[in-house]
Amino acid sequence: MNQMQRILSARRLSHSLIPQSCFLHRRWFSTSETDASSPPLSSPHQKIQTLEDKASNKSRSTASATSSLNEQELAKFSAIADTWWHSEGPFKPLHLMNPTRLAFIRSTLCRHFSKDPSSARPFEGLRLIDVGCGGGLLSEPLARMGATVTGIDAVDKNVKIARLHADMDPVTSTIEYQCTTAEKLVDDGRTFDAVLALEVIEHVANPAEFCKSLSALTIPNGATVLSTINRSMRAYASAIVAAEYILQWLPKGTHEWSSFLTPEELTMILQRASVDVKEMAGFVYNPITGRWLLSDDISVNFIAYGTKKE
Ligand SMILES: C[S@@+](CC[C@H](N)C(=O)[O-])C[C@H]1O[C@@H](n2cnc3c(N)ncnc32)[C@H](O)[C@@H]1O
Repeated sequence: MNQMQRILSARRLSHSLIPQSCFLHRRWFSTSETDASSPPLSSPHQKIQTLEDKASNKSRSTASATSSLNEQELAKFSAIADTWWHSEGPFKPLHLMNPTRLAFIRSTLCRHFSKDPSSARPFEGLRLIDVGCGGGLLSEPLARMGATVTGIDAVDKNVKIARLHADMDPVTSTIEYQCTTAEKLVDDGRTFDAVLALEVIEHVANPAEFCKSLSALTIPNGATVLSTINRSMRAYASAIVAAEYILQWLPKGTHEWSSFLTPEELTMILQRASVDVKEMAGFVYNPITGRWLLSDDISVNFIAYGTKKE
């Protein structure tokens, strides 16, 4: 059994912790099908080496506090910042994905921190950071689940929208929002029980350095959760051609296929940053129900949970 199969089978063993409703339309796929859809452009080792080379070139020319910033990517988010909470707008896929990704987060973090997943506020007592929080689509439900939440984003407009929206409810008004980067908070000496960065790594300047910052923000034995898009042909067809050009869910050019990471690459980058990936799941869109489901199919959208080494 290779490392990816072991990580996926860990999720199968624990899926009883995820609310049953998420599995009503569950389909299981073999991981060999998934592997075959990733184009054989480069081995994970070659890609990681390229990422690390880029990181070291970048860090020679930029202060560490700005090393994850990709200005072109940030401009795309700034341009549509007003639409974060329009459920039919450009962030519709994130709105639709939210219950599914929250089910994965609830399940993995409750197990990790020995919390009761059936409790209304299972994250009571936990300090979580949502890196690249955007308008707060994830930060808010995390706060409602009892966590003490910090949400950070590199785009000032996003943070302002997140603040305005969170202030409408006393529970979410407790969220600390800041326009900053993970690396800046590392410089400030901040740490958290769990660090989450959902759909962010594909937009940062250097993913390897970004993961090191996420790791540095996580306490020893803490948890890290990341989600992103696989650099596979299926992802090119669905996340770019279909989502941006045919269905026009997202503005054209939202995603650069070459910035995507395969699950193997993400696992390796995290491992080098002292985070062991323990579990991974795919998200699969069901066009009939309009819902996203957790699945073993990690060939397009996937989410990973890891633990920070001591
Ligand atoms: C696709 S959105 C995801 C938003 C949110 N995580 C979610 O899933 O609902 C990516 C977000 O990451 C932010 N971002 C991109 N690069 C960043 C960086 N280096 N540091 C902090 N935020 C960043 C963008 O401004 C944008 O809000």
